[in-house]
Amino acid sequence: MSRKLKLGVLISGRGSNLQSLIDATQDDSFPAEIVMVISNVPDVAGLDRSAKANIPTTVINHQDFDDREPFEDVLHDALSEAGVKLVCLAGFMRILTDGFVSRWLDKMINIHPSLLPSFKGLHTHERAIEAGVRFSGCTIHFVRPEMDDGPIIAQATVPIRQDDTPDALAARVLVEEHKIYPLAVRMIAEGRISITGSQVTIKGAVNPDSAVINPA
Ligand code: GAR
Repeated sequence: MSRKLKLGVLISGRGSNLQSLIDATQDDSFPAEIVMVISNVPDVAGLDRSAKANIPTTVINHQDFDDREPFEDVLHDALSEAGVKLVCLAGFMRILTDGFVSRWLDKMINIHPSLLPSFKGLHTHERAIEAGVRFSGCTIHFVRPEMDDGPIIAQATVPIRQDDTPDALAARVLVEEHKIYPLAVRMIAEGRISITGSQVTIKGAVNPDSAVINPA
């Protein structure tokens, strides 16, 4: 039996972060495998990616439910039955209730396209440019009941350019998202991560020495 950490990936759309995980898991030495992909939206591009990779894939359409809880019960059962040990939210655009979050406490991570705790929520790139900050980026964090909140595992920074547009910035941030998601999953799967309050400690973490100054 495989000793790899079993991942369940939740998506709502394009699935490029899902793809970065699929690509990572195709390396035999990667310590995790995707056992289930679930979309809450039918017919999205991410579903084609998982089908192509022969990963069990299902749609649980939230619109088929009157309330969040029954939707989440079905979600929970599908993940549990597949043997999922770590839930990866990858562009999953549905707010989860406290009940669901506590059922997967410390076993569910999310990617967000900003340097949290700045710019929680939507339209992060527009808002970062509008605010005049010199850096944006992306964050992988454990999920807590408050939206886009929780102990941070990894971040990547991306300098904002003088003439930046939200689309151009989003594209540059996305390149980094695709690096830090597999990195975070690997560190969890290797058992190197512990959580104390809002802080994550990573065994053997190497931190860069140098600062980046923008403008250079
Ligand atoms: C990604 O940029 C991800 O960070 C963001 O949605 C996009 C999904 O792209 N997630 C959020 O905004 C969650 N708060 P993808 O479907 O190509 O992975």
